[in-house]
Amino acid sequence: MTKTSALNTDGLPPLPHWDSVPDDLPSAIRAVKAALRARIAASGRSVEEVFAVIERRVRDRVEEIVAAKRRGEPIWPEVDYADIAAGTVAPAVLSQLHRRGCLVVRGNFPREQALAWDQGIVDYIEGNQFFENYRGLADDFFDSVGSKPEIYPIYWSPPQLQARQSDRMARVQAFLNDQWISESDGVRWFDPDRDSLYPDRIRRRPPGADSKGLGPHLDPGTVDLWLIQGYQQVFRHLFDGTVERYDPWDAAHRTTGSQYAGSTMCSAFRTFQGWTALCDMAHDQGVLHTVPIPEAMGYLMLRPLLADVPPDGMCGVRVNQAFPVTREWHEPLLPALSGVPDIQAGDTVWWHCDMIHSVAPVTDQQGWGNVMYIPAAPWCPRNERYAEQVRAAFLAGTSPSDFPAEHYERDWDNRARVTDLNATGRRGLGLD
Ligand SMILES: [Fe+2]
Repeated sequence: MTKTSALNTDGLPPLPHWDSVPDDLPSAIRAVKAALRARIAASGRSVEEVFAVIERRVRDRVEEIVAAKRRGEPIWPEVDYADIAAGTVAPAVLSQLHRRGCLVVRGNFPREQALAWDQGIVDYIEGNQFFENYRGLADDFFDSVGSKPEIYPIYWSPPQLQARQSDRMARVQAFLNDQWISESDGVRWFDPDRDSLYPDRIRRRPPGADSKGLGPHLDPGTVDLWLIQGYQQVFRHLFDGTVERYDPWDAAHRTTGSQYAGSTMCSAFRTFQGWTALCDMAHDQGVLHTVPIPEAMGYLMLRPLLADVPPDGMCGVRVNQAFPVTREWHEPLLPALSGVPDIQAGDTVWWHCDMIHSVAPVTDQQGWGNVMYIPAAPWCPRNERYAEQVRAAFLAGTSPSDFPAEHYERDWDNRARVTDLNATGRRGLGLD
């Protein structure tokens, strides 16, 4: 059902919005694009003019990154965990983190701890005959290697819980959350010091593996980014002629709404996506890449409004498919794609939730490629809502509701239990 916003206090034409996937998606897209154009025009600027502002900003960053790469400079900022813990992160690192929207935290966990967790996960899955019972891929989002998966639908191993609720993880998450504006207009959008322990899977890629990787994409949503009222408010400055004020670090309106259901959705608000390295990984062995420009989201959101895009097209973005970033529509952004440096076991890797990322292909991988996915998902209305599902899944040992209903761990006796939770864990699951 179409609705138009009743909150039209700025004198600009309101936007139609759809709280669930419209029955007639092409006509909804035509309608929202016409409304977005009309709204921008009513502000006294053209879509082309507004897009040119963001394009200039992003192209400058791309040139800066390409030049830095040519000089052999590192693109990903790095910080030692000890500096986060001591509150001594250098201002230059903070400003690089803001500029690039991504970070490697060295020694987030002691190396021996990470290696012990890696072994603990192997013992957990082998001891529970996971491979004998593995039924194959339940979603088409990730690719598999041979008969064993690359992404394991395992959520409740003791090592995962220990990492999620550890003090070291909580400190880094709070530091990352603090890079955002969590309070504005008298609203506290999220609590930077409390994480909601978003449960995700693990990846184990063995030596010798061939992997096609993942093309550049985004994870925060698909067409709902334009069609849901909450997101229209998140991106309000892109759509009301004040594009210069668009700030990718402003959490306003991000933490209350929801999004369209689908197998690629994340119900939680994440300030940063992230993973914890469980082994050493060389930079040329099929690692994570990002377009380290948080403002590129503005480019992606405005690009479909230009005249060369079909009226019912969104530059390849479709419901229930990862948001693709392609040569056809987003060519100027791609030269900035930059991989993580060599990673050691115990390091963590983080990237802004709106950021374009990919995984490079690899042939005959040297060494393992093992990570636990653990984001920063601070406590907020949206994450509190999802925490209810997480609690139920944790207690029953089932797959969390954002993921395929595979439920491998339901009957595994040595999975993490309520008695294994510390105060951070209990708070994160909303039990205290
Ligand atoms: Fe992704």
